[in-house]
Amino acid sequence: MFLNSLSWDLAYLIWPPWNVSRPPKELVEAINRAIIFPERSIDLGCGRGYIVEYLAKLGIEAWGIDISAIAIRQALARINKNSINAKFVRGDIFEFKPREYYDLVTDKGCYHSLPLIKRLIYPSLIRSRYLKVGGDLLMWVISDEEPDWGGPNRISISEIKRNFTERWFKLKAFKRIRWDAFKSPYGYFIWLKRSE
Ligand SMILES: C[S@@+](CC[C@H](N)C(=O)[O-])C[C@H]1O[C@@H](n2cnc3c(N)ncnc32)[C@H](O)[C@@H]1O
Repeated sequence: MFLNSLSWDLAYLIWPPWNVSRPPKELVEAINRAIIFPERSIDLGCGRGYIVEYLAKLGIEAWGIDISAIAIRQALARINKNSINAKFVRGDIFEFKPREYYDLVTDKGCYHSLPLIKRLIYPSLIRSRYLKVGGDLLMWVISDEEPDWGGPNRISISEIKRNFTERWFKLKAFKRIRWDAFKSPYGYFIWLKRSE
């Protein structure tokens, strides 16, 4: 964990190229149209905490977790200034043991950063520790339509179907998107629901 967190820390100290200082529009749309109405949420790999900040401002009990201490420090510095009730954990999503389940889990760019072995156990992690039955998992990933430029893992919809829907999740929707931080890369927005 130490080496892994150091490389993320370094990016946050210099400039994280993925950083966008607003919540993703698919999340805003889902909330505005009351497609989802969470009371308790967690953002996995929350970075500087823009999703957490957005949800906390709506009165949702919003949590964020990130392996990078620098990212968490930067999130806290900004959010404390705005005196919003958001909760942050510096830690590895595979090690954190929340006391209660969440009804919304968001993941923008964390899943696609994980090696294959961790991506394979991610659905059981979400089910055993994070998401309640009937809860929503919203993910943003770089897609396999993107040329391989040495960036994050490129995720296919067949991987999502294989990893998630053959087990405890229903694929409610997915949409091709442009990754907002960079303009060019193709990504997917994926909406999964825990069914059992
Ligand atoms: C591509 S960045 C995206 C950050 C943020 N979601 C955003 O959109 O700005 C991926 C994030 O996942 C975090 N991360 C990677 N592996 C993690 C793990 N095992 N546990 C917790 N956070 C992790 C990194 O520190 C980094 O902040």
